Amino acid sequence: MIRFSRVIGTGGYLPEKVRTNEEISQTVDTSDSWIYERTGIKSRRIAGADESAASMAEIAARQAIEAAGCDPETIDLIIVATGTPDHVYPSTGCILQQLLGAKNAVSFDVQAACSGSIFALSIADQYIKSGAAKTVLVVGSEICSRIVDWTDRGTCILFGDGAGAILLGASDEAGVLSTHIHSDGEYKDLLYCPNPQAATETNKHEAGFISMRGNEVFKVAVNTLGRIVDETLEANNMDKSNIDWLVPHQANIRIIVATAKKLKMSMDQVVVTLEHQGNTSSASVLIAFNEAVRDGRIQRGHVILLEAFGAGFTWGSALIKY
Ligand code: COA
Repeated sequence: MIRFSRVIGTGGYLPEKVRTNEEISQTVDTSDSWIYERTGIKSRRIAGADESAASMAEIAARQAIEAAGCDPETIDLIIVATGTPDHVYPSTGCILQQLLGAKNAVSFDVQAACSGSIFALSIADQYIKSGAAKTVLVVGSEICSRIVDWTDRGTCILFGDGAGAILLGASDEAGVLSTHIHSDGEYKDLLYCPNPQAATETNKHEAGFISMRGNEVFKVAVNTLGRIVDETLEANNMDKSNIDWLVPHQANIRIIVATAKKLKMSMDQVVVTLEHQGNTSSASVLIAFNEAVRDGRIQRGHVILLEAFGAGFTWGSALIKY
């Protein structure tokens, strides 16, 4: 019998505090119109002083668990995608396991920058398909505001905080149709954030903050996401017209529009959250997916293409029948 993983619950969380483009333009040389035209972002959420990747993950995860009507003790595996973990160790996955009382779950983190939740979904899907797990919680949670250099106008305008969650369950009905993940460390110097605890003499001056060559990242992202769309459709023997929704990583509206164009999709079929959230890194795809499920855009039976691109570079996609 073929076994699939199916989405049985979703959740999301955004911190209360809003930081607008106007506020940023009071501290660095930029403007609301420049940021909005180049990125599509107007504001982003900033986590409170006592919030962390784990505390935000807990809220998103509880929503997904409640939507699925499942007991946390039945979760076999928890995978948290984050580039801003609470600790070097234990993993945010272990902290979340304790917070949820999911005492039977194996828990760990995945670090693939903005592609983290797609990598986590891919791992979750393999575990379920192989029969090694029945119920898997995937969470992306990020406090990007704490690794952003708020004096660097090239990066501080882009990022925001938040968490998203998906609960997957084993099913004999098609759910996750395929996942595709890739890495290319040749691009490691275009987008990076050195760990301050492990900094070397050479990189300690930039440790703890995001450094990015934005224009170069932009070009590779557009080309790479175009390729992953083709790879995903070919693997499933599907045509562009079979896709009901595109749920892209929310990095820049111009990157999203280019991918939608490649798919010949109207922007009405694309879930866009970045205007008031910015780029929440590994959380962004899961937050957007949850929003579209909860507001009724994504319906059971719809085919959804999720995609992401991030530091590494890493990139990936998941084709899901909801
Ligand atoms: N406000 C005003 N001017 C800014 C600015 C800001 N916030 N940031 C950069 N500029 C300036 C630059 O200094 C440069 O000035 P110059 O021409 O005098 O040298 C000019 O704007 C153009 O810079 P450039 O970097 O070429 O702009 P861009 O159109 O590529 O837009 C980004 C910059 C960051 C918005 C864009 O490159 C981007 O979104 N890249 C992808 C980033 C991304 O997605 N990262 C995450 C991947 S997961």
